[in-house]
Amino acid sequence: MSKEILENNLDSFNERLPILNDRDIVNIRSKGRKFASDLGFRNQDQTLIATALSEICRNVIEHAGKGEVIIKSVIIGKKIGISFIVKDNGPGIKNLDRALQFGYTTGRGMGVGLSGTKRIMDEFELETKQGVGTTVTMTKWLNEFEY
Ligand SMILES: Nc1ncnc2c1ncn2[C@@H]1O[C@H](COP(=O)(O)OP(=O)(O)OP(=O)(O)O)[C@@H](O)[C@H]1O
Ligand SMILES: [Mg+2]
Repeated sequence: MSKEILENNLDSFNERLPILNDRDIVNIRSKGRKFASDLGFRNQDQTLIATALSEICRNVIEHAGKGEVIIKSVIIGKKIGISFIVKDNGPGIKNLDRALQFGYTTGRGMGVGLSGTKRIMDEFELETKQGVGTTVTMTKWLNEFEY
């Protein structure tokens, strides 16, 4: 998608969705993939982006109970990207450094969600406070030749 078309359609690239159950994750995953496809990400990147998004949303269900996600496009200067803000009011993450390590889990997972997602996305920020909640903000940029 060209930058001009995107700038004129910014409203259609901003959606807020609740994260309450597994069905929501499936829906969010396919919405994220569609957004990525509309923006011009190639197939392989669409899959990676959808995986990153669903991992972080699955963490909300598994470790915080419920939350919400904003899926949107971002334009900064010449750059176009897809951005996700995933928010919950759960228990927060006690030891963030460890949580970000490959293989660390406090649950029954493989402990690869956060570390894998960080590797997939170009920008990854995690804010967490015990008893208050967790917010993950992440962005993947399109390569310039893709638009
Ligand atoms: N939203 C969250 N709220 C509270 N704790 C979280 C949240 N997301 C992650 N964590 C903590 O960080 C740890 C690491 O998360 P990560 O996604 O890497 O692994 P996992 O969810 O345990 O397993 P996997 O994602 O491989 O199934 C979790 O075990 C959990 O303790
Ligand atoms: Mg996980």
